[in-house]
Amino acid sequence: MDRKLELLEDRDRQARLGGGEARIREQHGRGKLTARERIDFLLDPGSFQETGRLVVHDCHDFGMDEKRFPGDGVVTGHGTVDGRQVFVFAQDFTVFGGSLSGANAQKICRLMDMALKVGAPVIGINDSGGARIQEGVVSLGGYADIFLRNTLASGVIPQISAVLGPCAGGAVYSPAITDFILMVEKTSHMFVTGPEVIKTVTHEEVSFEDLGGARTHNQKSGVAHFLCPGEKECLTAIRHLLSYLPANNMEDPPAVAPSDPIDRIDPELRELIPENPNKPYDIKEIIERVADRDTFLEVQPLYAPNIVVGFARVAGKPVGIVANQPAFLAGTLDIAASIKAARFIRFCDCFNIPLLTFEDVPGFLPGTQQEWGGIIKHGAKLLYAYCEATVPKVTVITRKAYGGAYDVMSSKHIRGDVNFAYPTAEIAVMGPEGAVNILYKREIAAAADPAAFRQEKIAEFREKFANPYVAAERGYIDEVIDPAQTRPKVVAALAMLQTKRDTNPPKKHGNIPL
Ligand code: HXC
Repeated sequence: MDRKLELLEDRDRQARLGGGEARIREQHGRGKLTARERIDFLLDPGSFQETGRLVVHDCHDFGMDEKRFPGDGVVTGHGTVDGRQVFVFAQDFTVFGGSLSGANAQKICRLMDMALKVGAPVIGINDSGGARIQEGVVSLGGYADIFLRNTLASGVIPQISAVLGPCAGGAVYSPAITDFILMVEKTSHMFVTGPEVIKTVTHEEVSFEDLGGARTHNQKSGVAHFLCPGEKECLTAIRHLLSYLPANNMEDPPAVAPSDPIDRIDPELRELIPENPNKPYDIKEIIERVADRDTFLEVQPLYAPNIVVGFARVAGKPVGIVANQPAFLAGTLDIAASIKAARFIRFCDCFNIPLLTFEDVPGFLPGTQQEWGGIIKHGAKLLYAYCEATVPKVTVITRKAYGGAYDVMSSKHIRGDVNFAYPTAEIAVMGPEGAVNILYKREIAAAADPAAFRQEKIAEFREKFANPYVAAERGYIDEVIDPAQTRPKVVAALAMLQTKRDTNPPKKHGNIPL
């Protein structure tokens, strides 16, 4: 028995070494942790249970018979984060550059199948040269097997991707199908075609970093959701993100004891909306004052900042927050903002996370760039996402709710459950200036003093329509509230809605305007 145990220990030791000590040193030299170090840092100490540690590839070409490493370039298994079960795979760059072989794809697929069966999140740590070139189509098939599982698991279990090295070619599509992508400054790169190919085909010259670095994908493309300064910060961010998410779509998100009085009145909220309706303010101040203190986790903070999305807790329970941001582009809805918010709303709806919307939107952003870019279909995504969502939906209109954007932002008409408005709310087809220009075009032109006449009409319109009371009289607004009362009102609304059950007509799936 002793000899047999020694043999086992020997094999395990080999597996733990991945591609060997020299390659581990190289990995560290690049400022990167190894696959095992990443998993150890991510999971609760001692909780990792590895699967497939001794799996090797089955390739005989290109002298591959001579090169076999137990584990074959990916570490897979399960463990816990804050005591809650998760599944994790980490590509090991020290073995064939973390490239995906048939055998290692199978390890990932088995893990995903098990995660789906038991209903627990999957975290993928990507650091790979892509398809294992020596294995050809077997490797391509392995990717497709993973893509299929990513798709089938979508909306059933949360899937989170950390990109901690290269992730190129078709390999990007696995993280892309998952719910959240985290990238690290300087060491993460994602692209479908790299700088060399781009140079050959389009004659553009671009660096790895500019093309597909963490900042590019967090700020420009919107592919990534979190930008982290280092790997440890990234892995810590995953733990934090998981604290807001249920294990699967049949569970409620994890509640904690409220850290903040639920009846907290905040008189300073009365002062946050400027008297002048055209003056900006930071909606995040309102979010932070209404949510439990220090619980707001913003998602995609660098992309489309004219809309703010993220998780927070209200009375200890997770909520998804969607808020127009008057401090950027006056809070208008453009293509990027619509897509960003629609995807976030759909995530929350998949995973039973109530939606809390703060609305101050002058409308959709005008311009040929937007129209030719398809704001019609992209804006429709946001509308569709709110319409189909059956989770509790609470809306607070802080100021402008103009035009189609009023309908879109979780209005009563599209199954908003509880809709509040501040006394500063202006709910109308458009702003007073625009409305008067259209309604009184002829009268303004004919007036003795056109400017004075116009101002008079604007004041009249503002008085009559730019307020919450017409909507409240029709029941489109449940209550006009004192801003100081926002937190207790939202707490009460969400508590009332806790047992909400709503469904959509049975169908295979809808056809969201993509
Ligand atoms: C097999 C690979 C590999 C791959 C890297 N390696 N990528 N082995 N298949 N795809 C090996 C290298 O040969 C090397 O082994 C070791 O990993 C480390 O690689 P280096 O090149 O020394 O590292 P570095 O300089 O950091 O460059 C990393 C890299 C580069 C940028 C990822 O290796 C690279 O460009 N690799 C190929 C990327 C690629 O074109 N992949 C296919 C993409 S298409 P030795 O033993 O020599 O040290 C794709 C299709 C997916 O993935 C389709 C899904 C639909």
